[in-house]
Amino acid sequence: MKKLLTTILSLGVAASAAIAGDLSLTAAKVSDDLAKVTADSALWSKAKFATVELYPQTAIEFNDKKAVEANKGNKGKKAQVAAVHNGKDLAIMIKWPDGTKSVQGSHSSDTYSDGFAVQFASNSKQPLPYIGMGSAGRPVVVHLQKSTAAVYEPNGNKDVSTQLNRQQTGVFNEELAAYDAKVKGLAKTDYERVFVGEGFRSITEIKDGSVKSNASMNYNNGWTGTLVRPIKDAYMDGTGTAAVALAVWDGDKMGRNGLKNLSSWVAVNLEGMKPNAKVVSEATEAPKGDAAKGKEAADANGCAGCHQITADAPESVMAPSLVNIGGYSTAAYLRESILKPSAVVVPGYNRNAHANTPWYTIEKGKRVSTMTDYSFLDKATVENIVAYLKTLKAEVE
Ligand code: HEC
Repeated sequence: MKKLLTTILSLGVAASAAIAGDLSLTAAKVSDDLAKVTADSALWSKAKFATVELYPQTAIEFNDKKAVEANKGNKGKKAQVAAVHNGKDLAIMIKWPDGTKSVQGSHSSDTYSDGFAVQFASNSKQPLPYIGMGSAGRPVVVHLQKSTAAVYEPNGNKDVSTQLNRQQTGVFNEELAAYDAKVKGLAKTDYERVFVGEGFRSITEIKDGSVKSNASMNYNNGWTGTLVRPIKDAYMDGTGTAAVALAVWDGDKMGRNGLKNLSSWVAVNLEGMKPNAKVVSEATEAPKGDAAKGKEAADANGCAGCHQITADAPESVMAPSLVNIGGYSTAAYLRESILKPSAVVVPGYNRNAHANTPWYTIEKGKRVSTMTDYSFLDKATVENIVAYLKTLKAEVE
């Protein structure tokens, strides 16, 4: 982001042609230069908004008790999402509800900022990756924008750890005022990062400027975030259809890392290009099984022996909580989790978890899930369980 806009966004609700929980939308073709697009750019009036639901990511419990308490019973959020493209760049806008504006101070470690991330599947020929982290052989590129107070970055490389601390300058009174003024002039109000990931603990920041992106966020009784990036670069190819997932953090609830609301994969079709049928069908696949029978099968097969499945059931240290899994997972991912538990391994990082119940072991250098392999189940039963898992999600606020 080059400059933080304070302009108030006033997009008419009339522009929103929303169907609840849409998992595909069309990026309108425009001829504008998108490089400097922000929330108040006029071209958004050409875009159609779709409602995308974002659910609390509850797979792994945090060690921070206060944060866990603050996030108990979190609901799903309805975001309005639109996209435009000009054949070269893709711009995405997300508007999401947040009753309090949380901006992280530049020197405080106990405040958390609101923020959002737009994530793309890198390779549209692979099955869609694990959301948030990517998975082995299925990378993601993640654009993160946080709302931060002015940060002084002497190196201009967004390295917050090297920022100057006002308290440690050794100057007072007028000198300090002069120093403050100087810092203000140099400060950037930006916190924009780009990461690539190919599985848990493989997330790395791209610091060499090789991604030409621009993100911004504005608060007006709720947030509006925008991101512009090339349709295609070394990190991803969204030609035809970009597979996009969205995440938002609530600083007021100490949200950070996995403490966020997350969408499932959304197929963003680029108007005027041939859609990528594989991405579209994977992102929008509705489960074909019978959810009621799936619940019976899940009970009969002991899923609840390891997993917390409903919010009123006790939490389990044995396995990720599935309380919101239906809100941010595709049917394909759920099917794969049942049939090939080790294809994507959620490692867990709760150090309070019982040492005798690790979620994976290492065999020949590879993580192997401790989950029972259910590939013995017949196809219909698996589809029923998938349909049941898709119903597991919080109410939407
Ligand atoms: C023996 C314990 C155990 C049983 C029984 C079990 N699981 Fe799991 N499951 C795990 C563990 C551990 C993980 C995390 C490691 C991994 O990703 O495989 C997991 C992961 C998952 C995930 C991915 C979660 C995420 O956040 O991405 C899904 C979905 C899942 N299990 C569904 C099921 C279903 C459905 C059943 C019953 C048919 C079941 N599990 C039975 C232990 C178990």
